[in-house]
Amino acid sequence: MSNIENNKILALIQAAKDGFEKAYAPYSNFHVGAAALSNSGKIVKGCNVENASYGLTVCAERNCLAQGVIAGEQSFSAIVIYTNQEKLTPPCGACRQVIAEFLAPEALVMAVNHNNDSKQWTVNELLPDAFTPQYLLEK
Ligand code: THU
Repeated sequence: MSNIENNKILALIQAAKDGFEKAYAPYSNFHVGAAALSNSGKIVKGCNVENASYGLTVCAERNCLAQGVIAGEQSFSAIVIYTNQEKLTPPCGACRQVIAEFLAPEALVMAVNHNNDSKQWTVNELLPDAFTPQYLLEK
């Protein structure tokens, strides 16, 4: 499905696992890491960061993409989500919207776990007919 080299995918999985190791999730104990590949070839990562005011929690995927923006990257070809859950973790609705901001509709979203199980989607499969920057920027 994706045309990303296998060694890049392996590096993304390792980076997402590194993010997972840094997760701050004392309330849910549901640790998540994410890593994204920028169109210029840079790998950025993030983890979920919870808060005593629960609603302020930010998911790994959104923190990962924010790290990318801080690193000067605004478009990405893939994002990998790593957990130690038997059931693979798909991105939540809010993260799907943020993923659609920075990844093209055909870009890769991949969930991986500690067993090396994986599942892949395109951005468009997770959020069809997304409200994207083009609605605001191409009037
Ligand atoms: N979480 C993520 O970081 N990414 C997901 O894709 C699903 C949910 C986090 C938010 C919260 O810290 C914990 O997982 C449980 O919902």
